[in-house]
Amino acid sequence: MLSSPQPQHAARRSRVLGAALPLGLAVTAVGVLLSLASTPTAVSTQPEPALPEPVVIASVPEVQVGATTAADPCSEPSVLEAIAVADDAAIIAGFGGGESFRSAVVAGNAPCISLADPAHVWVVVNKARPLDPIEYAPSSLADLPMQMTTRSGQARSDVAAAIGALVADAAAEGAGSIGANNGYRSYDLQVATHASHVRNSGQAGADASSARAGHSEHQTGLALDLVACDSACGGIDAFGGTPQGAWVAENAWEYGFIVRYEQGGTGITGYKPEPWHLRYLGPELAAAYHHGGYHTLEEFFALPAAPDYAH
Ligand code: DAL
Ligand code: ZN
Repeated sequence: MLSSPQPQHAARRSRVLGAALPLGLAVTAVGVLLSLASTPTAVSTQPEPALPEPVVIASVPEVQVGATTAADPCSEPSVLEAIAVADDAAIIAGFGGGESFRSAVVAGNAPCISLADPAHVWVVVNKARPLDPIEYAPSSLADLPMQMTTRSGQARSDVAAAIGALVADAAAEGAGSIGANNGYRSYDLQVATHASHVRNSGQAGADASSARAGHSEHQTGLALDLVACDSACGGIDAFGGTPQGAWVAENAWEYGFIVRYEQGGTGITGYKPEPWHLRYLGPELAAAYHHGGYHTLEEFFALPAAPDYAH
């Protein structure tokens, strides 16, 4: 697929890129989106159940050197303009694309980029990298355009647009219907979610499948948990074994998503595999992640493994 993409994939890709481009323009539309967004209320969340212990990751990420990395990308006019309007796709383009962006960050040649800033698609949140501020909430949220099995049915507007395209194409290609269990979870909802895991599985069991509040990608509005909806929607734990789960594992990157917690990644992420948990990186970074053969975001940005909390 990668060397000879099908025409339908090319069509898909352009549609997703088209969906991503308005991100910068969307800065001016934040007020409109805010008026459309509603605040999620407390919900019942399904526990994310334990899966068998993973095997070792089969492939070592291939490091690709960005061909068009500028000597000082942060001083490029196109980057400065894109930063001024918080247009993530344009910032990445100004760096020369996803792989050039990644390699500049890893090389320490991108002081204008912070992997700790939760307002950007490149933020890295894990057990060693809590959100800052710890109770961060996205400035705008949109309803997820899919069937939901809880009331946590929102995500960032760019994420909602991208998952809408993914869901439509999965159905059109015969993979079946895809719904979601949880999108955005506030700090307070994550407190309740994690506490329910602790009650059900104890602290260690909870920490292997549920982030502590302030440490979850769901709190950024960039993550969502998928379910397969046939005659009825299944649970998140069943998703990996469904045709929908197989389709997502193969194609999600084309829509800007990665499966964040893969089989084999537990020693780095601290979480058991979650084939249902998609994290939005945007099409440019997701393509670099996919083509580079990465399996964790920590490896992608050459960050330390984060299997445990400090305290
Ligand atoms: N289940 C993932 C790790 C979360 O709670 O964010
Ligand atoms: Zn999740």
